[in-house]
Amino acid sequence: MHVGILTGGGDCPGLNAVIRAVSLALMHGCGARVSGIERGFLGLLEGRSRPLDEAAVRGIVNVGGTLLGTHNRADPFHYFGANGSDCSGRALDFLGRQGIDSLVVVGGDGTMTIAERFARLGVPVVGVPKTIDNDLALNERSFGFDSAVAVVAEALGRLETTARSHGRVMILETMGRYAGWIALEGGLAGGADAILLPELPYNTERVAAFCRQRMAEQGYALLCVAEGAKPEGGEFSVQQYLEASPDPIRLGGIGQRLMHELEPLLGAETELRYTLLGHLQRGGHPTAFDRVLATRFGVAAAELVMRGQFGRMVALQGNQCTSVPLGDVAGRARQVGLDDELLLRARSLGICLG
Ligand code: F6P
Repeated sequence: MHVGILTGGGDCPGLNAVIRAVSLALMHGCGARVSGIERGFLGLLEGRSRPLDEAAVRGIVNVGGTLLGTHNRADPFHYFGANGSDCSGRALDFLGRQGIDSLVVVGGDGTMTIAERFARLGVPVVGVPKTIDNDLALNERSFGFDSAVAVVAEALGRLETTARSHGRVMILETMGRYAGWIALEGGLAGGADAILLPELPYNTERVAAFCRQRMAEQGYALLCVAEGAKPEGGEFSVQQYLEASPDPIRLGGIGQRLMHELEPLLGAETELRYTLLGHLQRGGHPTAFDRVLATRFGVAAAELVMRGQFGRMVALQGNQCTSVPLGDVAGRARQVGLDDELLLRARSLGICLG
């Protein structure tokens, strides 16, 4: 058995722990040969892979990023290197030449969509969910999310001391695309006074009134804003987001926009500052929780391969590792539900949700 593994989309703490777990479980479980495809699907198109043996995956469980490299625009079915044409045949040729008989693909929704298309072409493929945003359908928690939340909580703690010292309104913008999971959990863990999510469009006057109240009560205010948050009237559906090009969120800077909207409403005596946390949320080493989850996912993926159960993605449901059809995940998203327990808890604490 010769298994290829690749990491697609944005990097994420815990990817190396998955690569290690898949490789070791396959080597120990059935003596399989494992090859790492470099830079995601680009490696399939450019013919770039390397053997993964025990030595290659030693000492990486705690290392951030991905030792294989990644690429978030290399879709073999619309290859940017060939004017957007379908180059999937080139990828299949490479797999054939290498004698790779099955593929483990680690990535987010874009990567799972491509994996599903390969599965429909008959490639034996298993998916592993990866996203700091925690937004993959049918999967309750992805590795990388806990690490991102820890960074947000740490940042809010730091912003709080400077906000308190200066008596300012501080706005922190988090990642998360069209989902508010990072802002919600990070905001709760970091003690934010207000948490604004894409799922709950905010009312600027209401947020300003809340800031005035917090300034009067405690002398400062801490706002945690998801990058996909939108004011009332500016909301969008996930489908609109997925179909839009260029990416409407990456062009956003919603935290900065909110700061400029609040400034005139709060008056000259209130100082506001804005921090964009950006890729700090994605870099660095994974938390212990993410190392363990990534390891569980990696072993579960290797087991699917060894059992010949292809066309499926590993998933966490009810804290159990299970698997779901790739076709049920691709092109779908998981947002914060308006009845989500954490959202309701946040409301009970008097946190402003917009
Ligand atoms: O999906 C993960 C994510 O980090 C999002 O939260 C963010 O919007 C996006 O990737 C940024 O991606 P990049 O800058 O790598 O294109």
